[in-house]
Amino acid sequence: MEIVKLEGVSKVFKSGEEIINAVDDLSLVINRGEFVAVVGPSGSGKTTLLNIISGIEKPDEGKVFFLGHRIDTLPENKLSELRLNKMGFIFQTYNLIPTLTAKENAEFILFLQGVPASERERRIREIFDFLGISELLDRFPKQMSGGQQQRVAIARAVVGKPEIVLADEPTANLDSENSKKVISLMKKLNKEMGITFIFSTHDPLIMESAERIIHLRDGKILKEERKD
Ligand SMILES: Nc1ncnc2c1ncn2[C@@H]1O[C@H](COP(=O)(O)OP(=O)(O)O)[C@@H](O)[C@H]1O
Ligand SMILES: [Mg+2]
Repeated sequence: MEIVKLEGVSKVFKSGEEIINAVDDLSLVINRGEFVAVVGPSGSGKTTLLNIISGIEKPDEGKVFFLGHRIDTLPENKLSELRLNKMGFIFQTYNLIPTLTAKENAEFILFLQGVPASERERRIREIFDFLGISELLDRFPKQMSGGQQQRVAIARAVVGKPEIVLADEPTANLDSENSKKVISLMKKLNKEMGITFIFSTHDPLIMESAERIIHLRDGKILKEERKD
């Protein structure tokens, strides 16, 4: 089943006199359960592509579908509801709220989703346990290493039971050992919970672990590799 479909999508930015085709007539289908890496040099359009998939950026041309429904024409309130309930996000800089503990960072999502308190507690314990990070529950971001913060960010991304997780260079600030840990947790969630992952990276070691690699250059797909 198709989870993401892009048809002839383009996004143009103007920077002074310059016109930048950040995403250039790109078409793409991603099926439910895939574990996909988007790779390419800085400026190749990775972030813009992920932002178009989540509806954060509107394409100038083309159509964007999520679970069979067109989303590029949806109003902002519908898009934020979709992002809250069906999508999880992981960022290069972790982006945990500094004044909340690891547990509260994850709980915040469930609170926004309207999950009752007792259920929130149960779900958080379950996911932290699944990811092997229960000892981090009561720590504030500044009391954790980068690798630990990113593992908490993964818990936050999936605690709301999303269909898909979009991770923009999730390992860019991590050493190789922590990068491997982060990717293996993402893979475990993909395999055991069936969550679709799309992540961007320029790290060759990290892209190796993807089942499908989409190479971007100048906003276009240069080539694709699949491992079955
Ligand atoms: N908000 C913006 N305004 C102007 N140019 C942008 C903006 N966002 C991205 N770009 C440009 O679009 C191109 C693709 O950027 P981006 O999607 O961030 O690539 P990547 O994530 O692969 O580094 C780059 O040339 C970048 O400078
Ligand atoms: Mg980027």
